Amino acid sequence: MLLATGRAPGKIILCGEHAVVYGRPALAVPVEQVQAVATVESAEPGAGVLLAADDLGEVVSLAPDDAGHPLAVITRLTLAHLGLPVPDWRVRVRSTVPIASGLGSGAAVSAAIAKALAAAAGRDLSPAEVSDLVYETEKIHHGTPSGIDNTVIAYDRPVYFRRDQLPAPFAIRRPFSLVIADSGIPSPTRVAVGDLRRAWQEDPERIEALFDRVEQIVEAVRAALAAGRPGELGPMLDANQEILGTLGVSCPELDRLVAAARAAGAAGAKLSGGGRGGNLIALVTDETAADVAAALAEAGAVRTITTTVGT
Ligand code: PMV
Repeated sequence: MLLATGRAPGKIILCGEHAVVYGRPALAVPVEQVQAVATVESAEPGAGVLLAADDLGEVVSLAPDDAGHPLAVITRLTLAHLGLPVPDWRVRVRSTVPIASGLGSGAAVSAAIAKALAAAAGRDLSPAEVSDLVYETEKIHHGTPSGIDNTVIAYDRPVYFRRDQLPAPFAIRRPFSLVIADSGIPSPTRVAVGDLRRAWQEDPERIEALFDRVEQIVEAVRAALAAGRPGELGPMLDANQEILGTLGVSCPELDRLVAAARAAGAAGAKLSGGGRGGNLIALVTDETAADVAAALAEAGAVRTITTTVGT
């Protein structure tokens, strides 16, 4: 018998990635076209919790062998947080969020499970509670995540995020469209973050100065969106991309895709997330969206998603 369902969207970072790890602000928005859905059904007495990730062909239990698996971790943490003994439940999770590409697939799956478990127990978790629970599983994926992914996905709204501060929703007075394109190169967030850490250790002043410029861009983007002027974002996204390149987290394939998007009429384009692969975002209008998506596919993107932000 179906007891409950939980859902969570994907996400993209508009600007500020990497600098956000060092205490600067970043802006992230949910992407509703892709989502993770978890369902909870009752199981036979004594079955315990069985988790099936259909897309991955994985079945996980709460037995010690699976203890470190992210699906088991979010389940154990959520049950403990709710003060529930282990129930006899079958949890199934499906996700259309592409894996390992900066769209927050791991966080979306964990958030969907946490929400479904709470709903099955007749309880409600606040976005902050979901975010904190998901953060614990993000650490398994990323090492030292800033917390931006779990935050935007748990709150399911645009967030202005600064590490160790309460997330602030930010106003998008006029919606705008992005083409999200997957380079097809798995994005090793942990590697890019680690390499940048080494660069920072070698020359903190140089890197901090670049982060200061990123912060200015993030504030300018936030102001333009609050003022209903998303058309001004193009050069800001381009400037952020240039700094990400200087920080060493872009790569030739992303640079080529960014150039292709701009040549096809995007007002600006940048990588989104960890970089070195994964996704990029291109700012488009109704007039340019189809051309930009086609040019990105032509230039080698394995998937494009056109999304409207701020509706
Ligand atoms: O690769 P993603 O989308 O999970 O984003 C990583 C964002 C970074 O700023 C590079 C790392 C972090 O923990 O914030």
